[in-house]
Amino acid sequence: MALIDGFPAGMFQHYRIRDDPEYAQALALGEDAIGVDLFIGEPELIGHGHGPKMLGAFLRKVAMPFHRLDVCVIGPSVSNVAAIRAYEKTGFVSLRTALVPGEPEPEQLMRITRGDLAPE
Ligand SMILES: CC(C)(COP(=O)(O)OP(=O)(O)OC[C@H]1O[C@@H](n2cnc3c(N)ncnc32)[C@H](O)[C@@H]1OP(=O)(O)O)[C@@H](O)C(=O)NCCC(=O)NCCS
Repeated sequence: MALIDGFPAGMFQHYRIRDDPEYAQALALGEDAIGVDLFIGEPELIGHGHGPKMLGAFLRKVAMPFHRLDVCVIGPSVSNVAAIRAYEKTGFVSLRTALVPGEPEPEQLMRITRGDLAPE
């Protein structure tokens, strides 16, 4: 659960890509990596720069220590330009698009390492 000024504002989740073999095959990363998903659930809190800051802190303090892995990927839909821009601000770099079974649109596959995270 993500809090902004103490109020519940969104959800983050983390997982290991290889734990979902079908998704791992679709991404074909060639390395062990964490995956993350997130959303800010309050419309008035979207577009104020909270997402990149919270995502950077979540990776540094929660997901990377939990999995003891310093590589993470994220896969917004190719049409979700706001999310793609927000993840670039976090330090993610686009790799390529990926077709994932059951998803209506390709994912824009993006990658970050601990060293790429914007300073706290
Ligand atoms: C994705 C999300 C977490 C990003 O967090 P955020 O706090 O809104 O992100 P920011 O405000 O830092 O950045 C959004 C960026 O997208 C840009 N943007 C917004 N709408 C845009 C559009 N239609 N076209 C191009 N850029 C757009 C903004 O200008 C901003 O970039 P800038 O700071 O360089 O101007 C949040 O928007 C969200 O939860 N959205 C709804 C659910 C969702 O899409 N989840 C992600 C699924 S992968």
